[in-house]
Amino acid sequence: MQLDRDDEQILAGGQGETKQKMLELLVALGKVFGAERLVPIKSAQVSGASYKTIGKYGLEWLNSLDAKAVVPAVLNPIGMPRTRWQEMGVDPVFAKNQEAVVAAYARLGIALECTCTPYYLRETSFGDHLAWSESSAVSYSNSVIGARTNREGGPGALAAALVGKTPCYGLHLGKNRKPHVVIDVQGATRDWTVADYGALGYHAGKLVGNRIPYFTGIRPERDQLKALGAAMAATGAVALYHVEDITPETQKIRFDIGGLEKIPVERNEITTLFKEFPVEAVALGCPHCSPEELGTLARLLVGKRVTKPLYVFASQGVIDANRKSVDAIEKSGAKVYADTCMVVSPVMERYKGIMVNSGKALAYVPDMCGGAARIGTTEECVWVATE
Ligand code: F3S
Repeated sequence: MQLDRDDEQILAGGQGETKQKMLELLVALGKVFGAERLVPIKSAQVSGASYKTIGKYGLEWLNSLDAKAVVPAVLNPIGMPRTRWQEMGVDPVFAKNQEAVVAAYARLGIALECTCTPYYLRETSFGDHLAWSESSAVSYSNSVIGARTNREGGPGALAAALVGKTPCYGLHLGKNRKPHVVIDVQGATRDWTVADYGALGYHAGKLVGNRIPYFTGIRPERDQLKALGAAMAATGAVALYHVEDITPETQKIRFDIGGLEKIPVERNEITTLFKEFPVEAVALGCPHCSPEELGTLARLLVGKRVTKPLYVFASQGVIDANRKSVDAIEKSGAKVYADTCMVVSPVMERYKGIMVNSGKALAYVPDMCGGAARIGTTEECVWVATE
């Protein structure tokens, strides 16, 4: 692998043992995947932030490191809101351990924004190289923005944040971003919601696995694209998808899809996922809510009171910039929490049935939280939470 003078100096230990080890890790990863060089990155998003997932040994490893991030870097959602964990009913022992994980990342220069939607916080542009971890964030940055990142593991993303580079292979290379299979959606209408696109992603992810799909027959908007990609990354391993005439690479590159396998998807394959059964709580914001989604919820909740727990998740930056919507949502008795989410927080494990508007949550809640998940539109979720 080609390395520059700075890389050689780091490898020789000239910038400390942690950076040396981190660059060794990146070089080893690059060799495994056939990278010819490292590429400078604009930002990193680091997973392995919830104490629920990394535990005692992950925390010990973080505490053994000594270096600072050299590019903007944020964390994936953690197991609790950093400032309102008591109110959420988080166990104090878990909270203490989670705070120790956050402190360890802060010492490494990782910004304490814990979110799967870093693209709402810092401008990310077409063609930017990134080292992001969380699957929905990876899908959104590659597909909706046209930036370039592989799905990094936690240590790989942290190493990239501390060194400022990542191995240049996989989705960093244009030749690997071509579609493999066409998903021809039949019967999609203009009034399809975020939940419809989440359900489509839930279904399509199972069909395509780790291939790059090229969608025809749909015209999703930004939040709907976010829902589609997040769900496909959950039921499949889709880190990049294209939507004809919508996502940026299909507008710049004429992909030859003529010889590709074509899979038709009928509308009833999607609607069958919308099953009705009683739930104990409603959780929205998977991936974390956009400003528009908070605005929609605020409008839907005007003059209403919740009758069962309604959790809403968003990044702290989006919450701070949309305080009016957040206050209107919380006036109903719903709670808007930062830093965490319905899947990584242990708190959601207390409910046997959870209603969501997200295909990704539909896939993950049963395994990660133990309860059944029901998908509905945002309007239906609000109705169920306030009926
Ligand atoms: Fe984000 Fe948690 Fe969903 S990390 S995509 S809100 S499972």
